[in-house]
Amino acid sequence: MENPLPSPARPAPPAPPPPEAVAPLMRALAVLRALTAAGGRAAVSDLVRATGLPRATVDRLLSTLGRLGYVRAEGRDAVLAPALLELGNAYLAATGLPDRLGPLADRLADALDESVSLAVPDGDGLRFVHQATRRRAVSLAFRIGDLLPAERGAPGALFAADWAPADWQRWRARRAADPADAGFPAVPPRRPADAAPAGGRRLAADFTARVAAARTAGWSLDDQLIEPGLIAVAMPVRDPAGRTVCAVSVVSHTSRHPAAALPDAVLPRLRATVLAMERALTAPAPAVVADDGRPAAWRRASKRQLGPGFVESVARGLAVLTAFGTGRAALTLSAVAEAAGLPRATARRALITLEHLGYTTGDGGRFRLAPRVLELGFARLSGLTLPDLARPHLTALAERVGESASLAVLTADGADAQPAVQYVIGVLAARIMRVTISPGSRAPAHATAAGRVLLAASPTAGRTARPEHRTAPGPAGRPFLLDRVRADGHALVDDELEPGLRSVAVPVHDGDGRAVAALGVSTHAGDRSPAATRAAVLPALREAAAAVEADLRVAGRYLPVALP
Ligand code: PHB
Repeated sequence: MENPLPSPARPAPPAPPPPEAVAPLMRALAVLRALTAAGGRAAVSDLVRATGLPRATVDRLLSTLGRLGYVRAEGRDAVLAPALLELGNAYLAATGLPDRLGPLADRLADALDESVSLAVPDGDGLRFVHQATRRRAVSLAFRIGDLLPAERGAPGALFAADWAPADWQRWRARRAADPADAGFPAVPPRRPADAAPAGGRRLAADFTARVAAARTAGWSLDDQLIEPGLIAVAMPVRDPAGRTVCAVSVVSHTSRHPAAALPDAVLPRLRATVLAMERALTAPAPAVVADDGRPAAWRRASKRQLGPGFVESVARGLAVLTAFGTGRAALTLSAVAEAAGLPRATARRALITLEHLGYTTGDGGRFRLAPRVLELGFARLSGLTLPDLARPHLTALAERVGESASLAVLTADGADAQPAVQYVIGVLAARIMRVTISPGSRAPAHATAAGRVLLAASPTAGRTARPEHRTAPGPAGRPFLLDRVRADGHALVDDELEPGLRSVAVPVHDGDGRAVAALGVSTHAGDRSPAATRAAVLPALREAAAAVEADLRVAGRYLPVALP
């Protein structure tokens, strides 16, 4: 039967890949996009359907991406994993925008007590690269990496002020092909009336008018373009050459300001911030931060180990993305090849592939990362908390040592309260005689192994704590004990909370070297000596802590990682 509905306009089919393009790299990126579109988790069979690739191909690509730490298998599902954030981090570090302008945006948010964000132009859309969020009445909070249609955010009208006729044509084609904004999962879909042709014409006229107004005024207002109540004012930030590199938005709600009053309320401070940002962009280029990517030897070893389960051309192509970073914004082909540990010809083909897909741009012999790199799972992974990051490593640890594992943080309620540890995850050993640790439970810090490693790392907590527990060393003994814990890098505690209980714990450090949590293994002492327990548990415990720390470094580079 014929479909009675008119068929929607289709976007122009994507250009065919150039002959030099690396097919496996394109397929691996398609798998990452499909996994992102599925919300970060998908059954392998669904990825096969979404990508149209053979099952064996998807399996090999997932195995390769797994080796890189970008995805993880959980039962029959593939799940995006935190190390994938390193691709978006490479883009953010290369632009230097969050590093240079982020602190100024945060200060503006404090001064106005409103949310402030930074967005960059990305095709006919805008993509967030920094968020200082203070959301109250507003339901929607965008994440770093989220993409909005240009016509639905205050920065979009500023960016469109620089569009060439071809850009407008692309915008109109996209609007016609996707009137409900289905291609932008970060925004609520348009109401049917707005998505209908008449609504679309009204919307186009409105956007053109806002672009013209923004060009004249130098700022732009979003009066509830995204959802009822949400309003924003944005100004462009220009580099010394006069190009708009990003826009700063102050975001509020009609319950705090009528939309018409928002510009007057925020523009003076917003203007001052933009001036400070433009000054910050004239500062000398930041020092190059050495790339700690995986060397060519790592790829060769992975190939030897995994055989067909490691597609080297994928690992090589993705290494091109992490060749960029702080002080490495625009690289020649030779610089890319050297940083990625690749022959020039290989780096060149990877760059051709990545440029075809919109992840890199090249002109005048220099290559750059494009904001689209953030579409590879960045927004999806950006809400991860420390327990989220730690859980898979704790599960693996508990399985490996056959004992219960836990993650704990230090808490203190009130100025002179006794420091306590709070367990945020407990993973049970798969056996009958096991120690149960309930998430949320607390214990006096000095009486537990986790507490002692955290007190030992804390400049003040350990020294000022009052002892209350029966066998805990008194105030005179504690500094000595904590010095010992600090020197050993772990604590072993026997029998202090409960007879027969023994726990061993090590600290977990964040990217700045602060001990933010403790990772522990709990067991019944039985007749094992403490030395025997250490020998059985510590190596695995240290490896698990190092794995959590690696994830925390990547995830915490541009995003605050919530502790519990
Ligand atoms: C935001 O950062 O959430 C934001 C920015 C600009 C808008 C709306 C929301 O127009």
